[in-house]
Amino acid sequence: MPRSSNKNKVVIIGAGHVGSHCAYALSMGGSIQEIVFIDIDEKKAAAQADDITDALSFMPHPVVLRSGSYQDCSDAQIVLLAAGVPRKPGQTRLDTMGDSIKVMKDIVPKLNGSGFDGVLVCISNPVDVITTYMHRHVDLPTSRILGTGTSLDTARLKRILWKELEVHPASIHCYSLGEHGDSSMIPFSHVQIGGLPLQTLMDQYPKSYGKLDLDHVLQRTRTVGMDIINGKNSTEFGIGSVVADLVGSILHDERRILPLSCLLEGAYGQEGIAIGVPAIVGGDGIQTVLELDLTAEEEALFQASCEVVRNHVEMSES
Ligand code: LAC
Repeated sequence: MPRSSNKNKVVIIGAGHVGSHCAYALSMGGSIQEIVFIDIDEKKAAAQADDITDALSFMPHPVVLRSGSYQDCSDAQIVLLAAGVPRKPGQTRLDTMGDSIKVMKDIVPKLNGSGFDGVLVCISNPVDVITTYMHRHVDLPTSRILGTGTSLDTARLKRILWKELEVHPASIHCYSLGEHGDSSMIPFSHVQIGGLPLQTLMDQYPKSYGKLDLDHVLQRTRTVGMDIINGKNSTEFGIGSVVADLVGSILHDERRILPLSCLLEGAYGQEGIAIGVPAIVGGDGIQTVLELDLTAEEEALFQASCEVVRNHVEMSES
């Protein structure tokens, strides 16, 4: 990662619900010194910065929040791409693709001309299509363009399992993978509770855990986002927390394994699309994509999800 700035500086493109909640979570996390909002609505960008600055006395360390321009990307370690078109109740993330791509067409030349040389984190939906689009059009090495992928879906999966099993998420190892959308899948054969495979736990303790309904867990994981949209027209706290966690792994070169939207170049038999897979992420972005050994049923679900993304990627370029 470039060290052109000695500050931990993050630029957020898009000062809406998602961008502002990412900024708030990052400010409260304590590892950022400067956060710059870029938005076509400059007044809104400045107001979000001001509003979060009101919380300065409660932040673990001082953070400078302000609005800025693409020039600010030149010495930023990370750019968060949160611009786009919010989905409305009833819309899937893929339904927003045409309008989101229009927004990206405006952003890409400005980002390419900014001198940015850090890690680009795509959050805008449909995130796998947008991440693939950025790989095709942004002048950065492959490892330094990634999307939030199924990291939020995985956080949702953990909180659902927490409720169902009454085991803290820190003791649950699991992933949601594939599209960040309705075709996401869960490789249940890789879910571990305190080191025990989930199925073993269910078999060994039938009274406590045997009744867990895996299909219900999958459906709930997929639909939580839409339920929130139906209730308040946006999701923001979950994604803000997920992004703050991911930014920490990049800034501190933690090399955590997170389910991110990564460009596949042969892994899982796929080429040329970005989709949610477990990956080691550190200071230089994606270090390694991990290929899980999936059961035949899981493999079919994962490949079907890849096809959904691939079809939309093709449409996005037409
Ligand atoms: C969600 C949005 C971020 O799932 O896609 O909440």
